[in-house]
Amino acid sequence: MSSANDINPMRRPNHFKIGLFGYLHEGGNCFTTVPERWLARWPDILRLAKMADAGGLDFMLPISRWKGVPGALMQRLHSYETLTQAAALGAMTERIAVLSTVHTPLIHPIIAAKCMTTVDHVSNGRSGLNIVCGWNTDDFDMFGRQTLPHSERYKQAWDWYQIWSRLIEGAEEPFDFDTKFFPDHKALVALPGSIQRPRPVVISAAASPDGREFAMKTSDLLFTYYTSFDAGKKLVADIEAQSAAAGRSEPVGLVAVSYVVCRKTRAEAEAYHRYYAEVRADKPAIDYYMAGRSKNATMPEQEEREMRLRFAAGNGGYPLIGTPRDVADGLIEIARAGYAGTAISMVDYVGELPPILEEVMPILLRAGIRVH
Ligand SMILES: Cc1cc2nc3c(=O)[nH]c(=O)nc-3n(C[C@H](O)[C@H](O)[C@H](O)COP(=O)(O)O)c2cc1C
Repeated sequence: MSSANDINPMRRPNHFKIGLFGYLHEGGNCFTTVPERWLARWPDILRLAKMADAGGLDFMLPISRWKGVPGALMQRLHSYETLTQAAALGAMTERIAVLSTVHTPLIHPIIAAKCMTTVDHVSNGRSGLNIVCGWNTDDFDMFGRQTLPHSERYKQAWDWYQIWSRLIEGAEEPFDFDTKFFPDHKALVALPGSIQRPRPVVISAAASPDGREFAMKTSDLLFTYYTSFDAGKKLVADIEAQSAAAGRSEPVGLVAVSYVVCRKTRAEAEAYHRYYAEVRADKPAIDYYMAGRSKNATMPEQEEREMRLRFAAGNGGYPLIGTPRDVADGLIEIARAGYAGTAISMVDYVGELPPILEEVMPILLRAGIRVH
């Protein structure tokens, strides 16, 4: 029997989920100065979402940004807001999941629950919440908020989640909420509840042990990194064991950050990768970004040079570079490591998506890692 939860492709079992990441701000997921870089104007975003929807991708996952990244171009300053974009894209698409990335220290959970309920109804059950605690002090300064110490962030997020989840389920009976981070909240109510039951798909984006612990309590999926087959497999096994120990009936699924350079030949793809991510990298932006992240985040250990390249090329994601066959092989590898899916990006999303949809996706279908 079908249920409201069958609609969201993020819930499809035995299906390696692929979606687009980082398209909602100028520069996309790269730090490059090439002229064809993503400008994130609304007509292009809408065109991209419709292409992804018609082409069978599973989700649209934005990064949430409030300020630009100082560098050669002040990348990411031009950016849209993620809850309202989900409402707009949900109304203009048919099948794809429309996710919202929400900063728990900046957006009140009552507002987030109300907005996401709206998105879930507009999209008929295709909404999803990507929870981020954030790390960017400049963003927090803009709101007059202190960046909490790392150990406190997930405590605040846990309180946030309790309010959000109770309201989005639909709360006809008023309840009070009074904790350190959300004191003196009186008679909270919200109707209607979301279409997805008991609530929309929840992802949390984190790499640290605290972040994983938080995901165990709150999330269907954990958005994180993938560095190699062996490390990926080990992380999947660890998360499965942690999920079982936490008493979950289903383990938290892992979604990897990755980026794609797909060309007719491998040489062509590698040359373009070198060009946009090394020769034309926005180096001061990468300096700024790396300094901020290493101060505030726990990152997987990697060589500095490799990290810089991956940040320039695709926000620290896993490189999928080469022919459609090479790109498909990389995706199959991530799936075989046990990941539930990956969020991909490209320099020019609209220009580079067609060969992925037309040539890479059929290979994945034949490999049996996707059901459509
Ligand atoms: C895959 C991924 C995506 C993220 N997306 C965002 C984002 O859109 N906006 C943001 O401010 N922080 C984002 N973050 C940062 C997290 O919110 C968090 O601050 C950071 O990962 C540090 O926490 P951790 O040490 O628990 O990983 C992201 C982190 C990861 C791993």
